[in-house]
Amino acid sequence: MNIVLGITGSIAAYKACTLIRQFVKQGHEVQVVITPAGKEFITPVTLSALTSKPVISDFFAQRDGTWHSHVSLGLWADAMVIAPATASTIGKMAHGIADNMLITTYLSMKAPVFIAPAMDLDMWAHPATQDNLQLLRQRGVTVIEPASGELASHLVGKGRMEEPERIAEVVLTALAKPRDLEGRRILITAGPTYERIDPVRFIGNYSSGKMGIALAEECARRGAKVDLVCGPMQRQTTVAGIETTHVESAEQMWQAASQRFTQADAAILCAAVADFTPDSVADQKIKREGDGLVLRLKPTQDIARGLGTMKQPHQRLVGFALETHDEVEHAQAKLQKKNLDFIVLNSLQDEGAGFQHDTNKVTIITPAEVIPYPLKPKTEVAHDIVDHLATLFNS
Ligand code: C5P
Repeated sequence: MNIVLGITGSIAAYKACTLIRQFVKQGHEVQVVITPAGKEFITPVTLSALTSKPVISDFFAQRDGTWHSHVSLGLWADAMVIAPATASTIGKMAHGIADNMLITTYLSMKAPVFIAPAMDLDMWAHPATQDNLQLLRQRGVTVIEPASGELASHLVGKGRMEEPERIAEVVLTALAKPRDLEGRRILITAGPTYERIDPVRFIGNYSSGKMGIALAEECARRGAKVDLVCGPMQRQTTVAGIETTHVESAEQMWQAASQRFTQADAAILCAAVADFTPDSVADQKIKREGDGLVLRLKPTQDIARGLGTMKQPHQRLVGFALETHDEVEHAQAKLQKKNLDFIVLNSLQDEGAGFQHDTNKVTIITPAEVIPYPLKPKTEVAHDIVDHLATLFNS
C-alpha cells in the first residue's frame, strides 16, 4: 500500500519514526509530507533515510524548482495518515486553509484519511478543537483519539498521541481487505447521465459518482475485475483492476451495461440514470424566442429492469433507490419490479446522505430483511454493500 504520512509541529513528531518503521516493515511505501513547524521537531534527513524517499515540505524542491504535485500524491496514496496532528493542522483541515503542502495534499486526497491528534489537554478540550474534529469526522476522516497520560507540558490529561504501533494497527486493519471476490467480474454503473436537448444543453442531475467509484474500488481491492460504466463526472479512479467506460446518455449507458452484463457475476447499479430524455435533439442551438420552450420527453430504458430480465440464476443484481417519502415501501416495490437481489436505499431526508456528499446513510433491503446502517464515509458504505453482496455469492 502507498501511505502519505503527514507530520506536523508537535513534540510527538519523533514517534513518526516508529510509525514509519511499522509501515515499512509490513511492506508498505511511505511518502512523508511535513509542515514547516514539523521540521523544527524532526529532521527530513532521518525521515528520508527511513522511507528511502525525499521528504516533501515545500510546494517546490529548493534545489531545482521541481513542482511537488499534491494532486498526484492524492491519487498515488491508498491512505493518508497525519501523525502527529496539531490543533492548528486540524483547524486548517476543517476549514480548507491550504497554506502549506500538507493541507493542499489533504484537500486533494482521494484515499481514506486518518489523524492522530497530539496536543495539550486544554487545547484538546477546547470547543474549537472539538468542533473541528467533529467536522472532519462528518466528512469521513478517522480520528485516532489521543490517550490520557503525562503530556510534554508535564500536565496529566488527554492529548498524548496514540502509540505508533496502535496507529499502524488501526490504519492497516481499516484498510485490510478480504480477497473474497477473486475471480469474480462485477459491473458497476455510476454517476449521472446527460440527455441532450441541443448541441449545448442537456438534462442532468447532481450525482457526483462518488458512491459508484467507492464501490468499484472496494470490489477491485477485494480481487474482482470491475467494469465501471460511468456517466459524465469529475472523479476518476486509478485503482488496478477497474476498466472504465465513459458514456453520456442513458441509452449509451444501457448499451455499454447490457453488453458487459452477460460476462458479469453481478452488477451494482449505482448510476442516477435520467428517467426521461428529449423526444428529439435539436441540431442547432435553440434560440431564446417567444414565450418559452416546451420540451417533449420520452422515457429512457430502465437499465436495472432490463438487466433484471436478462439475469441468469448465477448472477446477482443490486440497485439503489433515492427516495423522499415512504422510502421503504417504494424501495421494496423497486426491488421486486426490477428483479434485484437487494436494493440500497438512501433518503434525501437524512443529512449528509445522497448526492455530492462524502458520507452516506443507507438501508439495505432484501426480499426478507430491512437492515439500517448509520451515517458513514462512502468508502465504508461501499464496504458494507460489498460484504452483503459477497454473502450472496456463497448462498
Ligand atoms: O426507479 P429508480 O430510478 O428510482 O430506480 C433506481 C435504480 O434503478 C438505481 O439502481 C438506478 O441505477 C437504476 N436505474 C436504471 N436505469 C434507469 C433508471 C434507474 O438502471 N433508467
